[in-house]
Amino acid sequence: MYKVRAIAPFSAELQVPGDKSLSHRAVMFGALSNGPCEISGFLPSADCWCTVEAMRALGIEIEVLEETEWGPSKLLVHGKGGKFEAPSAPINCGNSGTTMRLLAGILAAQPFETELYGDESLSRRPMDRIAAPLRLMGAEIEGRGERCTAPIRIRGTQDLTPIAYESPVASAQVKSAVLLAGLYAKGKTSVSEPYLSRDHTERLLKYLLVKTVREGNTVSIWGGQTPESRDMRVPGDISSAAFWIVAAAARPGSRLRVKNVGLNPTRTGILSALTRMGARLSESIDEENGEPVGSVEVVGHKLRAIEIGGDDIPKLIDEIPILAVAGALAEGKTIIRDARELRVKESDRISAVAENLRRMGVTVDEFADGMEITGGAQLKGATVDSLGDHRIAMAFAIAGLYAEGETIVRDTDCVNTSYPGFGAELEQIMKS
Ligand code: S3P
Repeated sequence: MYKVRAIAPFSAELQVPGDKSLSHRAVMFGALSNGPCEISGFLPSADCWCTVEAMRALGIEIEVLEETEWGPSKLLVHGKGGKFEAPSAPINCGNSGTTMRLLAGILAAQPFETELYGDESLSRRPMDRIAAPLRLMGAEIEGRGERCTAPIRIRGTQDLTPIAYESPVASAQVKSAVLLAGLYAKGKTSVSEPYLSRDHTERLLKYLLVKTVREGNTVSIWGGQTPESRDMRVPGDISSAAFWIVAAAARPGSRLRVKNVGLNPTRTGILSALTRMGARLSESIDEENGEPVGSVEVVGHKLRAIEIGGDDIPKLIDEIPILAVAGALAEGKTIIRDARELRVKESDRISAVAENLRRMGVTVDEFADGMEITGGAQLKGATVDSLGDHRIAMAFAIAGLYAEGETIVRDTDCVNTSYPGFGAELEQIMKS
């Protein structure tokens, strides 16, 4: 539980833990590579640990080289060139959609059967979106009902057929699952998506000397390539930084600098959206080694409402809860459209955000694919629920920093799935 009160303008310089998407991929791609890979900046979170344990269960040796107070942050993954062992038991993917969906792409190509299961939230999420293309490639996948929900059983084949797949959703998890299976298929596998989703898979594979080609929203890969073992450095997660960026951006007098954060343009939609809202932000890129990494500076300023939808959505899909909080603080009506995907995240984030904002006195109209938020009124402290969803918990902790009276956020253990240390940083900012 977090107890949050309004704060005065603050000044801070901070770093956030490693990027979640990149931490999962570094471990999986390291395992696929032809030798040892040292991964630094690894996110010590429950989600990413599921990926580590999954790889271990499949016969990959992973050593912990360094620990922080939140858990392992430097790993040595001993890649076996794409060869895995049949696990002795079903694999637990916890709360992590990325673990289950990307792993499914690898398992589609293994000569054994694996069962993947997850927690209650993950067991509600659609797996048909990866089952459909992987079945077309020749894998047998069984799950529950039409949406093929977990537990899922995957019987792989070493004779995968390459496909040209048109994904109905803009999803990096779907794209990555197909590309990983494509790494084992004989020939060229392509995935097209309606809008470009985050491109970490393509960038990290390129860094590991695997060729992929992107033309428009289509990415292709050629089977038979083995990633080269190389050390990988994971930058801070822009999705975690986004909470502090909004905490400072809407409050005149606040100043914030976030260092060593990933600034991949397929992930920085939140910065563009806040800039359109009148936020004073500047980005500087210090390093471009596969992924752009740098710092973000924020000077607090009054915000105004915007409308957002279309191809902007995948670039800030995980930041919509905190963007909605920014909308509640901005003058005017903020309209979010084309974000139906939010209904199948760790919680139904459209209804969770609408419900919690209303509890804080904000007028919200919910649509099937988004919401309209009437911003500008003073937020009122309230008791809100995370619904077991880390990003809802953190977004409403930040809302509490702007509310009159006390805000209680219930059920905050889930924050460990992506941002261990968030609660400690929150305490620090409330004290400053
Ligand atoms: C992720 C992709 C996104 C995102 C998730 C992480 C990834 O999901 O919401 O938190 O690492 O590929 P979708 O691919 O389902 O959009």
